[in-house]
Amino acid sequence: MAGEKARPRPLVAGNWKMNGLRSALAEAKAVADALAARSAPCPADVLICPPATLVMVMSEILKGTPVAIGAQDCHTEVSGAHTGDLSAEILVDAGATAIIVGHSERRADHDETDNYVHAKQRAVLRSGCLSIVCIGETAGQRRAGQTLDVVVRQLERSLDEGSTSFNTVIAYEPVWAIGTGLTPTVEDVAEVHAAIRDRLTSRFGDEGLAMRILYGGSVKPQNARELMHVPNVDGALVGGASLKAADFLGIIAAYG
Ligand code: PGA
Repeated sequence: MAGEKARPRPLVAGNWKMNGLRSALAEAKAVADALAARSAPCPADVLICPPATLVMVMSEILKGTPVAIGAQDCHTEVSGAHTGDLSAEILVDAGATAIIVGHSERRADHDETDNYVHAKQRAVLRSGCLSIVCIGETAGQRRAGQTLDVVVRQLERSLDEGSTSFNTVIAYEPVWAIGTGLTPTVEDVAEVHAAIRDRLTSRFGDEGLAMRILYGGSVKPQNARELMHVPNVDGALVGGASLKAADFLGIIAAYG
C-alpha cells in the first residue's frame, strides 16, 4: 500500500526447549518437506532450535531446505574450562545459525540477569550467528502496571550496541503466557511491540525500524493469524506448538 513502510521478512522460530529425542527429527523433516513442496516460496524465515544434542544431525538432515537450525543458549566465552557449557562458536560448528539468549526460563532457572544476557548476546554476535534476545514481564509485573517499564529496561540492558537488523531479533514473551494457553489481547501485544519499536528506533535509527520483533507465548495455529498481523509483530517464537510439524506449519501458514 502506498506510504506503508516495508516490513521485515517475518521469522517463525521453534524453541523445542528440553524436548526432542532423535525420533523427533522426523517432525523437523516433515516441516522442511512441506515447505519445499509448496508451489509458492516460503512466506517467512523458518528456524527450529532443538536441544543441543540434535543441532548437528538436524542441520545435516535439513541442509538446503528452507528450515534453519538454531540453539537455545550459549556460554559467553569462546572455549575453556566451563564443564557442561557450549560456546556460540561450538554451536556454529555444529550447524547453528541462530542462538536464543535470555529466555525467561533461563532467567528464572539459572538466575540470568540482563547483564549476563547482554554478555551472551555479545558472544552470539562474535560467532556470526543471529541472536534472538528474549524479554517479557511476569504476571505480577503486569498486574502492577509495570509491563512497559520492565520490557524496556530488559531491552536496554540486554541488547548490545553492535545489534543490527541482520544479527539481532527481539522476542517479546510475557512470562505468564508461556506454556499456559493464555495470551495478551491484540491491543496489549500492539502496545508492547510499539514501545519496543520506539526504543529500538531511538537507539538504532533505521536499523531499529528493520529489526524483527517476535511475539512468543502460547502461539498456536488457532491464534497465529491474529497475533502475527498485529502492527510491529514480525513473527513468532513458538514453544509447545513447534514440536509437531502440523502445528508448526499451521503457524507458518498465518503468513500465507
Ligand atoms: P509456548 O513457549 O509457545 O509453549 O508458550 C514459548 C516460548 O517459551 O518460547
